[in-house]
Amino acid sequence: MITQLNQRIFVAGHTGLVGSAIVRALRRQGYNNLLTVPHSHLDLTDQAQVRQLFQREQIDAVYLAAATVGGIHANNSYPAEFIYSNMAIETNVIHEAWRHGTQRLLFLGSSCIYPRLAPQPIPETALMHGALEPTNEPYAIAKIAGIKLCESYNRQYGTRYRSVMPTNLYGPCDSYHNENGHVIPALMRRLHESKLAGANEVAVWGTGEARREFLYVDDLADACLFVMNLSEDRYRGATLPMVSHINVGSGMEVSIARLAQLLAQTVGYGGELVFDASKPDGTPRKLLDVGILNALGWRAEVALERGLRETYHSFLRAEQAGTRQQLARALDQQSRRRREMYLPPVALEHAYADMRSPY
Ligand SMILES: NC(=O)c1ccc[n+]([C@@H]2O[C@H](COP(=O)([O-])OP(=O)(O)OC[C@H]3O[C@@H](n4cnc5c(N)ncnc54)[C@H](OP(=O)(O)O)[C@@H]3O)[C@@H](O)[C@H]2O)c1
Repeated sequence: MITQLNQRIFVAGHTGLVGSAIVRALRRQGYNNLLTVPHSHLDLTDQAQVRQLFQREQIDAVYLAAATVGGIHANNSYPAEFIYSNMAIETNVIHEAWRHGTQRLLFLGSSCIYPRLAPQPIPETALMHGALEPTNEPYAIAKIAGIKLCESYNRQYGTRYRSVMPTNLYGPCDSYHNENGHVIPALMRRLHESKLAGANEVAVWGTGEARREFLYVDDLADACLFVMNLSEDRYRGATLPMVSHINVGSGMEVSIARLAQLLAQTVGYGGELVFDASKPDGTPRKLLDVGILNALGWRAEVALERGLRETYHSFLRAEQAGTRQQLARALDQQSRRRREMYLPPVALEHAYADMRSPY
C-alpha cells in the first residue's frame, strides 16, 4: 500500500455521490486520518481558503471529487458556472497541493469528456481526438484541463497526480432531482412517483435500444483507491506522460429498455413502460475500454441488479429525510442574483437541434 493508513487524506467533495463513496471505501480499508470539510465551510473556488487549508493541515494525499456537475439541462443553462467553478476548484486544489508538498492526488475525469464520436469501446487515447458534445463542452474543457494540470505538474515537478475516467455512475447519495439528466436517478424517481400515483404507464425517452454502461459508485471508489495505490512503476508502465488517465467502467453494456425493466422491478412499479421513439436515442453505444485497468488487476464487482436495489434504498431514505433532491449545484446564490443583471441566456440552437437524450 502506497498511502499509509495514518496518513492525512483530504477527500474534497465528500458529501457528493463519488466523494461519499471514497470516504466509505477509505474507512472500510482502515484509513483513520481523513480530512473532510463541508462546502459551507470551505469554498474550493476561493484560492485563499484553499491555501489556508493546505497551510493548516499536513495533507499527504488528496481525492479530488469536488466539482460542479449536472445533466444536459444544467450544463446548457449554466455554462459559465460549469467552466469557471470546475477550473477554479482544480487549479486551486492542484496548485496548493503542489505548493505544500502533497505528493499524491487523484483527479476525477468523466467519460462524457471524450469526443462525441469517439470509437467504441472508448480507449484512453481518444481524449482530444475529436469535437466535444456541444451541450457540455464548457464542463468537458474544464475537466480536460484538470487532467492536463496533473500531467503538467508531474512532468515539471515530479508529483504523482493521477486521473481516472469513470463511466456513468449510480448509487447512494446521488441527486434525484427531475432535471438531473442521469438516467438511473431520474427514471427511478419517475417510476417511484408513478407507483405511488397508481399510473398505468410511464414514458421512457427513445426506442430503448441504445446501450449504456453503468458502474456502481462503490466499485468506482474501490478503483480510485486501487489506482492511487499503484506503484509508480506500474502506473507509468500502463500510461503515458500525456495520456495519463485510466478508464474505470464495468465493461458491461445494457439497453435502456432492459435498464428500465430492471428499475421498474426494483421500485415495484407494475405498469407499462412506453418507449417514445419520437425522442432521440442519442449515440447507439457508449462503452469505455477498460483493458488497461483490467490488465492492472482491477474489475468491477457489483452487478447492476444489486446496485439498483442499494440505490433505491438510499433514494427512499433521502425521500424521508428530504435531502439530495436539489437541482445541480450550478445555482449558487450570487450567480442567481447576478444572472438577473444581464441579458437572458442565449439558447444553443445548434446543440438542441442534435441534442442527445439525457443518457
Ligand atoms: N456522477 C457521475 O455519473 C460521474 C461520472 C463520471 C465522473 N464523475 C466525476 O466525479 C466527480 C464527482 O461527481 P459527483 O457525481 O460525486 O458530484 P456531486 O454528487 O454533485 O458531488 C460534488 C461534491 O463537490 C462539492 N462541491 C461542489 N462545489 C464545491 C465548492 N466550490 N467547494 C467545495 N465543495 C464543492 C459538493 O458539495 P455540496 O453538495 O455541498 O455543494 C459535493 O460534495 C466529478 O468530477 C465528476 O466529473 C461523475
